[in-house]
Amino acid sequence: MNNVKLAENVYYVGAVDWNLRDFHGYTTPRGVTYNSYLIIDEKICLIDTVKAPFAQELLERISQIIDPAKIDYIITNHIEPDHSSALPMVMARAPQAKVLLTEHGRTGILKHYQQNYDFQVVKEGDVLDLGRNKLRFVPVPMLHWPDSMISYLTGEQILFSNDAFGQHISTTKRFDDENDINEVLYEAEKYYANILMPFGKMVVKAVDKLKELPIKIIAPSHGVVWRTHIPEIVSKYQEWGRGRAVSKVIIAYDSMWGSTERMARTILDGVAAAGVTGKLYKMSSADRSEVVRDMLEAGGILIGSSTLNNGMLPNMGALMTYLKGLRPSGKIGAAFGAYGWGGGAQASIEEMLKSAGIAVEQQGLALKWVPDAEELGKCFEFGREFAKKVLTRV
Ligand code: FEO
Repeated sequence: MNNVKLAENVYYVGAVDWNLRDFHGYTTPRGVTYNSYLIIDEKICLIDTVKAPFAQELLERISQIIDPAKIDYIITNHIEPDHSSALPMVMARAPQAKVLLTEHGRTGILKHYQQNYDFQVVKEGDVLDLGRNKLRFVPVPMLHWPDSMISYLTGEQILFSNDAFGQHISTTKRFDDENDINEVLYEAEKYYANILMPFGKMVVKAVDKLKELPIKIIAPSHGVVWRTHIPEIVSKYQEWGRGRAVSKVIIAYDSMWGSTERMARTILDGVAAAGVTGKLYKMSSADRSEVVRDMLEAGGILIGSSTLNNGMLPNMGALMTYLKGLRPSGKIGAAFGAYGWGGGAQASIEEMLKSAGIAVEQQGLALKWVPDAEELGKCFEFGREFAKKVLTRV
């Protein structure tokens, strides 16, 4: 088990979860890491812990450097159990450690673990003197939980950013430049889309706040540590936070007997004819969290479903519920699909698009039974018209 140095006396002591494939609905084909960092100064400080099943791995990594009993401070930047559920095991080995966290963090840890540790609540701008270096605390509420906080190590200029700038990727190489950067950026985009998308305004505010700090390293709580590609990932966060939209249309649909699928393919042709990049995802086989990653920068989203019992198909219901929670910004949307008699899917989709904050600026297209040649022409025009609208907005 190798410990990795981020800087003189700052170590990676986290755990690699090679086999996790589902993070409450977010697929993780490359696995996950739970990052924890140890600072050896006049005072010994641990930044976050790991998920409970990996407590032993964390403690072994720490023990290679110091006796865990010597830890003076544990910084709990975030109480979500992937970062805090090993805390009781660490506290058992470091019973004198003080736990520093926000007020929301304190109430959350108390409720999760029912242990009244030696807490020290910190707020914006508070500083912890470790000896040669200091830790400065930057609460970032709702990025993505109320308790979320970022900690900044002066001297070494390391930003311990917790979930922000994270990626779900298992690797034996801890730094961005030691890995395939395209793979890392892809996973960072997927992470942002699935976890941070609803909090764009807070992301922009936090990045603006962090710009004041000289940063040599960004050490997130998931994935690789940024030391080379910091400008790229910070600029991506600014763009995503502001709701950057490009000339791309994502068509997500499901089809009962093939008519909605024919519509989707013809609409895609119309989108392409307008010079806009189109992507097609059938939700009975597509991975929802991958589709959402692709939607992050898309200017337009088209949702198709056959009508089933006056509503949309279940796979589309799941996607729309997910999108409603993610509230993507700066996008337009429209609905389409085939029906047999009463219809109803398009109205349900439009309602969900609106409640997800997606502007519905084009009337939906509903066709009865199987589309004929004339109706397929309408589908083509539907796609082309929609794509033109996207072009005027990006
Ligand atoms: Fe990685 Fe919000 O926990």
